[in-house]
Amino acid sequence: MSYRLTILLCLALYSSDIQGKKLRIYGGEDVTIQDYPYSAALAKISNEYFFCGGSIISNWHILTAAHCIEQYQYFEIKVYVGSTRLAITAESGYRLQRCIRFNQFRNKIDLPSSNFINYSIGILTGWGRTDTHEGDHSEILQKATMKLYSVPECNQVLPFLLHDEQLCAFNRVGVGACIGDSGSPLVVNQEVVGITSLLRPCATGVPDVFTNVYKYLNFITREMYDMNSVVCT
Ligand SMILES: *[C@@H]1O[C@H](CO)[C@@H](O)[C@H](O)[C@H]1NC(C)=O
Repeated sequence: MSYRLTILLCLALYSSDIQGKKLRIYGGEDVTIQDYPYSAALAKISNEYFFCGGSIISNWHILTAAHCIEQYQYFEIKVYVGSTRLAITAESGYRLQRCIRFNQFRNKIDLPSSNFINYSIGILTGWGRTDTHEGDHSEILQKATMKLYSVPECNQVLPFLLHDEQLCAFNRVGVGACIGDSGSPLVVNQEVVGITSLLRPCATGVPDVFTNVYKYLNFITREMYDMNSVVCT
């Protein structure tokens, strides 16, 4: 069977001094994929270049940030799931033609059932950089714990204004998303509430900005509808 694994587009917004570029979690800690089996990585097939994170939301769908994939065709991208270590090779990884069969290493995360609650604590996972120096991605999946803030509160501390469809999250200086974490999931109570969107590299003390997944539920469920009844064999 050959169905296309659709990559959902979510809003990416740019501002002059903060860009949603390939930004490894900075100041995070090593975790294993069994604890966060929804974590996914995106890489370019031709040069095995890791460029963004994502999350598994169904057998057929990876949730990521639009700015991660807007420059690529689906056949140029592979999805890496099911491994703590990010070993990108031509052989490993899912071409966007297969479904993802779930097990203890790869599984879906639920979409949010309601909007997030102010000051709830989320877990960000990804293989982005662990420092701001030029270099490759993190080999080991990283996590950081962050507190979520509503748009009005974000706007008081960010140097630009957020849209209603965003949220921001912060821990402290030295902990946060970094290059390569774009598209990575921010999860509260086993629901993916945020998609890493914008950051000032990295963990400089400014909250990181996320797409508020709840605000895009209609879009996301509509995109997923076609495959709802297709069994992954
Ligand atoms: C969260 O905070 C905003 C103001 O910053 C407020 O408008 C909103 O009602 C709060 N939400 C909840 C669930 O308390």
